[in-house]
Amino acid sequence: MTNTDAPAPERPDVAPPDVIGDDIDSHAVVNALRGVIDPELGDNVVDLGMVKRLERSADGAMHVTIALTTAGCPLRAQLMRDAKARVGSLPGVDVVKIHFGEMTANERKDVMSQARWKARDNALDTDIPVTARIIALSSGKGGVGKSSVTANLAVLLADRGYTVGVLDADVGGFSMPQLLGIDGEITGERAGEGKTVMKPVVCPVGAGVLHIVSMGSISGANETEAIMWRGMMLNRAVQHFLEDVQWGDLDYLLIDMPPGTSDIQMGLARMLPRTDVVIVTTPATAAQQVAARAADMARKGFLRVAGVIENMGPSTAPDGTITAMFGSGGGEYLAESIGVPLLASIPLESAVAAGGDTGCPVAFHQPDTAAAAVYRDLVDLIVSDVAPPVKIAECSLRGALTRAGADLEGARERAQSR
Ligand SMILES: Nc1ncnc2c1ncn2[C@@H]1O[C@H](COP(=O)(O)OP(=O)(O)OP(=O)(O)O)[C@@H](O)[C@H]1O
Ligand SMILES: [Mg+2]
Repeated sequence: MTNTDAPAPERPDVAPPDVIGDDIDSHAVVNALRGVIDPELGDNVVDLGMVKRLERSADGAMHVTIALTTAGCPLRAQLMRDAKARVGSLPGVDVVKIHFGEMTANERKDVMSQARWKARDNALDTDIPVTARIIALSSGKGGVGKSSVTANLAVLLADRGYTVGVLDADVGGFSMPQLLGIDGEITGERAGEGKTVMKPVVCPVGAGVLHIVSMGSISGANETEAIMWRGMMLNRAVQHFLEDVQWGDLDYLLIDMPPGTSDIQMGLARMLPRTDVVIVTTPATAAQQVAARAADMARKGFLRVAGVIENMGPSTAPDGTITAMFGSGGGEYLAESIGVPLLASIPLESAVAAGGDTGCPVAFHQPDTAAAAVYRDLVDLIVSDVAPPVKIAECSLRGALTRAGADLEGARERAQSR
């Protein structure tokens, strides 16, 4: 979407990477790398033309060469981690080596024009900051605990000082307001041209804050108005939520997906291709075929599957007795079969269900429970490894881009005032 009336310019061409060796599915690798965002330039490394070379060495390792704008770019470690994680999650790729080069002056000029083009033509006009980490909690089967996991992760991440968006993408079966114990409403504001912008329900937790958007928080002056509004939105509700909500300055966006492999997931892949998917499953090994389908679907949409969370897993009594109500080993089995890590096994514990019923997620409200302890470890892992928060470092290019934007704005204003 452009922010001027001038015709949108064509996107400058990007040279595809050199591919060395014929046993590389370069299409898949390139698509995986499309999920790696340079947060400063606001686009993925492929479309910015930063991926220069793909090579499979004799030992089977996949080598990816990425050209950086400056050799000392502080985002290097983050790009490396993201690229490794995404390419490494492809079937048949076990070892990924990332090599960094530095752009020539001409290449830098090209990447700047790509970045400017992107700034003008943001395919999905969303307010979600490019630095926000997006994690969708998905599953093949219903009732495995996606919403419970979303709510507990959200409060713990917020408690640590992060600003956490929660998008209840289960439009027909919303549950976030109940699970998080909020009764505030999304407010709408006319923003001209018939557009309405929405403000999420804001809920401070510990040192941070939640910004929650759910169909359950949409109401109106009266019930009829609420029904009309919901009816209007049902169709493309998730897209509306992504486009028309003023999300604010998020560190994380957690998306509670509806059960099954729906078109909402495909839509998400199109609208937010940098989403990481985490599959929630129960421990019964027999249930894993359905769960694997959710992972398969995510990958078909070129989303990265970041790991598996087993929920309703075995619990240990104070005397050491282990009860595995729904079996055991399913999470491990699934993680192994789809080639991603098992991030946690959350025990089946009555306090978890009770916390959901009362709107007080256990991870925050009952820190002494076994489930809360597992959630703390899980959040440690997410923050350190799975999806570390993006810290925008002061790269020289950022200032240049901001100035370029300001120059454009200034020129436009001057032209209009003439
Ligand atoms: N670890 C757990 N221990 C005990 N109860 C749990 C646990 N996890 C979830 N529950 C309970 O199981 C029920 C189903 O969980 P939840 O609604 O989160 O599943 P879901 O996958 O989001 O379901 P749906 O597919 O319908 O959206 C809820 O009542 C929830 O409180
Ligand atoms: Mg749910």
